[in-house]
Amino acid sequence: MSVEFSVSLGERSYPIYIGQNLLSDVGFLQGIVAERSVAIVSNETVAPLYMDALVKALGDRVKIKVLLPDGEQYKTLDTLSRIFDQLLGAQCDRSTLLIALGGGVVGDVAGFAAACYQRGIAFMQVPTTLLAQVDSSVGGKTAVNHPSGKNMIGAFYQPEAVIIDVDTLSSLDDRELRAGLAEVIKYGLIRDEAFFSWLEENIDRLLARDADALVYAIERSCRNKAEVVAADELEHGERALLNLGHTFGHAIETATDYSSWLHGEAIAVGMLMAMVFSERVGLLGQEQRQRAENLIKRAGLPLIPPSELDAQTFVKHMRHDKKVLNGTIRLILMRKIGEAFVSSDYDEDRLLLEINSILDIHK
Ligand code: NAD
Ligand code: GLY
Repeated sequence: MSVEFSVSLGERSYPIYIGQNLLSDVGFLQGIVAERSVAIVSNETVAPLYMDALVKALGDRVKIKVLLPDGEQYKTLDTLSRIFDQLLGAQCDRSTLLIALGGGVVGDVAGFAAACYQRGIAFMQVPTTLLAQVDSSVGGKTAVNHPSGKNMIGAFYQPEAVIIDVDTLSSLDDRELRAGLAEVIKYGLIRDEAFFSWLEENIDRLLARDADALVYAIERSCRNKAEVVAADELEHGERALLNLGHTFGHAIETATDYSSWLHGEAIAVGMLMAMVFSERVGLLGQEQRQRAENLIKRAGLPLIPPSELDAQTFVKHMRHDKKVLNGTIRLILMRKIGEAFVSSDYDEDRLLLEINSILDIHK
């Protein structure tokens, strides 16, 4: 079973392919790469698992394999520079196709390399984590981190295609799978109530890695993301909804030095905090928040923020988020499951009070 649909962005539109056995489908891979020279960027964990399949399919089109060390700490300008050195060393020219094979870190850094190398070369995403398959590989956000903040240096640069082989998820550990599920649940919460209901019915199949269920959940997630990106590619409006829970989650990730919490875990708690705040200010019904909490819990994700955080520190970290505009923290709040909105129009003292109360309850 495989599906194909497009992210509609005029002349920069591109297909997303989702299915099983895509990395072993030689005819399919050769068809989309055509006769171009290829540079594959991956990391030392993913390459031993999936690089051979790509090389076998693409043969001597593959001019160079660039292997990065594994980890968010390597999503840096130094790593970017290493990629450029290797592309230049292999005399890759502007017709080279760059393929990013890996999770969101590889996709973000390789995508940014493609955006900059010789003023821009074509690239494809082959995401291998659930998070990358449902979120980071689609939509063209590419970046590296700076010591002062995450994803601070980057570009919007759309791939030429996204190839999602769900078989790659078989080697992903459970914790990473659950972290990806947080982003899947996010689409149901922000704009797709029917999908949220489907997730309530099928979360156990996803946790058991049922291939049909995974293909469906990834497809539905990517279709949601594709629609949002097509409507607001550069995040002037609607795209900000994709950040539900991210400003709260960002505070958790920063406060814990990006070491003990996975991004998806912080987002799960962040989404719940956004919902609790929405509930307390009278926007969201208690039973809606409870439904969301139940699903997040069944997905095996955390529900409460780390105990060492106090409300002041929380808000201080929220202020340093990229989504802050003219000093105002823009929050994504909820009216009901399937309906989120961007708000700068809330009482910041109330926010502090409610964060305090959420943290207190769990002490
Ligand atoms: P990651 O890339 O660090 O991957 C997680 C771990 O899984 C790594 O150790 C990786 O090597 C390993 N891995 C990857 N695929 C595997 C597989 N199939 N089998 C076994 N191990 C595998 O983390 P992630 O969660 O994929 O991505 C997080 C990054 O994505 C962050 O840097 C974040 O900023 C970025 N992101 C970007 C966007 C965007 O729109 N561009 C959106 C969300 C997140
Ligand atoms: N991950 C949020 C976005 O792509 O906009």
